[in-house]
Amino acid sequence: MKKIGVITSGGDCPGMNAAIRAVVRVAQAKGMEVLGIKNGYAGMISRDFVQLDSRSVGDIIQKGGTFLGTARCEEFKTLEGRQTALSNLQQKGVEGLVIIGGDGSLTGGKLLSELGMKVVGMPGTIDNDIWGTDYTIGFDTAVNTVLDSINKLRDTASAHGRVMLVEVMGRKSGWIALTAGLTGGAEIILVPEIPYDLNDVCRQLRDSRAKGKQYSIVVVAEGVGSAITIGEQIRQGTGLETRVSVLGHIQRGGAPTVTDRLLASRMSEMAVTLLQQGVTNVMVGIQCNQMVPVIIDDAIGRKKDVDAVLFRLAEILSQ
Ligand code: F6P
Repeated sequence: MKKIGVITSGGDCPGMNAAIRAVVRVAQAKGMEVLGIKNGYAGMISRDFVQLDSRSVGDIIQKGGTFLGTARCEEFKTLEGRQTALSNLQQKGVEGLVIIGGDGSLTGGKLLSELGMKVVGMPGTIDNDIWGTDYTIGFDTAVNTVLDSINKLRDTASAHGRVMLVEVMGRKSGWIALTAGLTGGAEIILVPEIPYDLNDVCRQLRDSRAKGKQYSIVVVAEGVGSAITIGEQIRQGTGLETRVSVLGHIQRGGAPTVTDRLLASRMSEMAVTLLQQGVTNVMVGIQCNQMVPVIIDDAIGRKKDVDAVLFRLAEILSQ
């Protein structure tokens, strides 16, 4: 294989730049050229391409976002759109493609591979909701951002003796909430995968005051519902003073952590190697600290629920 393309698609996440850099440099080391595709699948259709080399990906490893840009593209969902995209890539001599993104982006990759393009995906999303990989690129940075916020919210919650609710991202997944909640010492963690009873939540919060706790942190995954609504229900159900912080897109930004830079770099090396070997329609995952190829259909078709054992541990530790 002489030339590959690299694309970031869907929601951005910290570590995407580290991944692009590693894809380009590993490919160059293997004697391949790399074409960057700008603004996700939209750029593939509009021929928004940029030739990349080792120098053009300098000074980006430490930056959040993606210097290629990203987008969600309706036109690519049509067969005509994908055929245009494929023919644009072929005209540029691209024989294989590395796609960095979440489940929607991987689905796009699978459809493109069905048209004949060799495709290897990499899981890039803060949500950590992709089956077949223990971690996704961006998750660690996002969780650390949430943790930093929880630490700060603890200061003010303790000063006023309040119940502080923190709403975090994750779409339909509770991985960010569970991981940041456990490590941030939250008393209650609400995730979409595990049902909860609001009366129990209120009782727990009242009991904790009776046991001598002065304040409480409640982490709410956005997939559960609005923390503003839940905060009001808790206020009414407990008589305690509540405040709500919705962290929002803060969680998507910032310099990637060591863990995310390392994960992005390792996954990129594997992705380029797989393409070189002619492998297609797979995603690179990390399982037990090993890089493994995962069939894209499995990665997008199966649900990766939060770890129930970790959830129980968080409950024990919150006592
Ligand atoms: O999938 C990543 C994510 O940040 C989710 O956690 C969140 O629900 C969504 O994207 C937000 O999307 P947008 O940037 O389009 O508002």
